[in-house]
Amino acid sequence: MSPNYQATASAPVNIAVIKYWGKRDTKLILPTNSSLSVTLDQDHLRSTTTSRADPKFTQDRLWLNGKVDEIKPDSRLETCITEMKRLRKKTVEDKDPKAPKLSTYHVHIASYNNFPTAAGLASSASGFAALVASLSHLYELPVDASTLSLISRQGSGSACRSLFGGFVAWQMGTKSDGSDSLAIQVAPESHWPEMHALICVVSDDKKGTSSTSGMQRTVETSPLLQHRIKNVVPERMEKMTRAIKDKDFDSFAKITMADSNQFHAVALDTEPPIFYMNDVSRAIIALIVEYNRLSRENGGRYKAAYTYDAGPNAVVYAPEANMKEIASLIIAYFPQKAGDFKDVLGLFGAEGAKDINK
Ligand code: DP6
Repeated sequence: MSPNYQATASAPVNIAVIKYWGKRDTKLILPTNSSLSVTLDQDHLRSTTTSRADPKFTQDRLWLNGKVDEIKPDSRLETCITEMKRLRKKTVEDKDPKAPKLSTYHVHIASYNNFPTAAGLASSASGFAALVASLSHLYELPVDASTLSLISRQGSGSACRSLFGGFVAWQMGTKSDGSDSLAIQVAPESHWPEMHALICVVSDDKKGTSSTSGMQRTVETSPLLQHRIKNVVPERMEKMTRAIKDKDFDSFAKITMADSNQFHAVALDTEPPIFYMNDVSRAIIALIVEYNRLSRENGGRYKAAYTYDAGPNAVVYAPEANMKEIASLIIAYFPQKAGDFKDVLGLFGAEGAKDINK
């Protein structure tokens, strides 16, 4: 019987607190600015992927949530699979002539999300991170997560950050081949376990403008993006890193909300303008602003921070101690029965991509 070459890995979703928006190279997926995110809990929103290599397979194939998904030539998917095979050859087979030539076999890949893809929550970040992690285990690659992030980045930019748990920076890099555009862990989840995230599903409609096409239009038309790239993000990356290291929630909250606001401002500054938030999203902002104002007026601190990606759903970061109060406030002001609000999910940082079994 031929040996069984198969491995499974999972990776969670991550939500940026300093947003990636804009590419300087669309093929290699090199960003116009660095970004920083928090990886969410493995148990709630994650992709799990099994890869199998077999000399009998006649082509590479992929199943997404049980349905066949075409691997188009020159697609991001094909790039990731090809790059992983290349890495296997370079780091294993070229060094050990006895190692099985798995890089020459076709692979079959099956990936599942444990959350509805229609929930309006980005599945490409966890999906490409889990794909790369599972192929890395299958190929027994002697490389670290930052090296793998160079490949998952080429699947979807934000996917490079899901290879780590906790607090993760994607350093934009300066090289034109992308070899220094990778993810690093700023702090593990254990560093700040009180940090929790609440996801408020405002709408599960498919968004109008995808991140990929929206950010390209912003790069081509927004003067505000140029200001953000040069004058705003570099300082914010430093301040955010410090805030995380110091577990300084006041600074974390201020920067998180300011960066979400500026990301949506550059979307609006795009020609034609892009609107990702809706009236409910803006009402949740007003609620969090008021909640923080009341606390600070009474000599207290920031209690919560909102952030929005390329859609109307809110993510609220807050110390765990405040979460019950925040969830009840949101449920009281936005009754799910009214139909303008779908769900509240409580989540928090976890361990990033991990090997499940072989
Ligand atoms: C608003 O990573 O989905 O969520 O690289 O084109 O696949 P592509 O884009 P993607 O963009 C994510 C944009 C964002 C901000 C972020 O996650 O940093």
